Amino acid sequence: MPPKLKNLKLEIRKNIAYITLNRPKHLNVFDTETLNELEKTLISLENNAKVKVVCLLSDHDKVFTAGANIKEMNANNVIEAKHFAELGHRIAQKLETMPQPVIVGINGYALGGGVEFACACDIRIASERAVLSQPEIDIGIIPGWGGTQRLARIVGPGKAKELIYTGKRINAEEAFEIGLVNMVVPADKLNEAVKEMAETIASKGKIALFEAKKAINQVSQSPLDVGLRFEIESWSTLFETYDQKEGMGAFLEGRKPIFKDK
Ligand code: HXC
Repeated sequence: MPPKLKNLKLEIRKNIAYITLNRPKHLNVFDTETLNELEKTLISLENNAKVKVVCLLSDHDKVFTAGANIKEMNANNVIEAKHFAELGHRIAQKLETMPQPVIVGINGYALGGGVEFACACDIRIASERAVLSQPEIDIGIIPGWGGTQRLARIVGPGKAKELIYTGKRINAEEAFEIGLVNMVVPADKLNEAVKEMAETIASKGKIALFEAKKAINQVSQSPLDVGLRFEIESWSTLFETYDQKEGMGAFLEGRKPIFKDK
């Protein structure tokens, strides 16, 4: 049963779930209520066998999100701050480890927690108008939803330190150059580009797709020898599936495969 949503929109079309941040008047800032909605939404989707790909978008024309709600955080004591950090961490972890690939479309400002959640997604597509920053240093804190870890794994510790120590904003082109986003597209084509990528991925067999995500996630979780062992196990279990026989059989017969996700 999908959760009741106020600050987000959820649409499921053709095996693809589209989550849209929908607090445009508040620059899609993440407060506890919105975070709770997002967490519930992701939990409902990870258990939805019909959903093969998840997309995260924004309804604001210039902002993906201005990050966590500074007013709310400012009232936090140490214990409350820890709970707020843990809630965001659970969401980032869900984005990263839910079985479905997650694609994020960054249409404008992605600040603080916005970059952190984007870093937990599988694929990041930015519009030419995107501006990314970890500006926490300017409000006396550090990234608290995984930014010190995931950003450093994506762009390398040196670049992550530069971004986090200075809080500077980078544009889409710079984000592409440092490998923070996969591609940059014109602003009016962003949602279409996300949809196209999602449809391409959703056209593949679900079992191999989900195994690929699990195996690649080993990169940040295991030493190389453990990751390689994981790949052998994961790869060989696919030979129990219909889709492997169909995929290879179709290739050898010179036709397109019809995957059945089994
Ligand atoms: C609360 C925010 C906010 C935020 C903006 N506002 N960002 N309120 N939390 N993150 C509010 C402003 O106070 C202002 O309120 C209104 O939104 C409009 O903002 P302006 O700055 O006047 O608009 P503009 O000049 O268009 O600039 C937009 C902006 C800028 C570029 C997004 O607001 C900005 O840089 N915001 C700072 C964002 C930031 O530091 N984010 C990181 C948060 S820390 P009023 O009432 O005056 O209209 C974080 C950590 C996550 O995300 C980890 C936690 C554990």
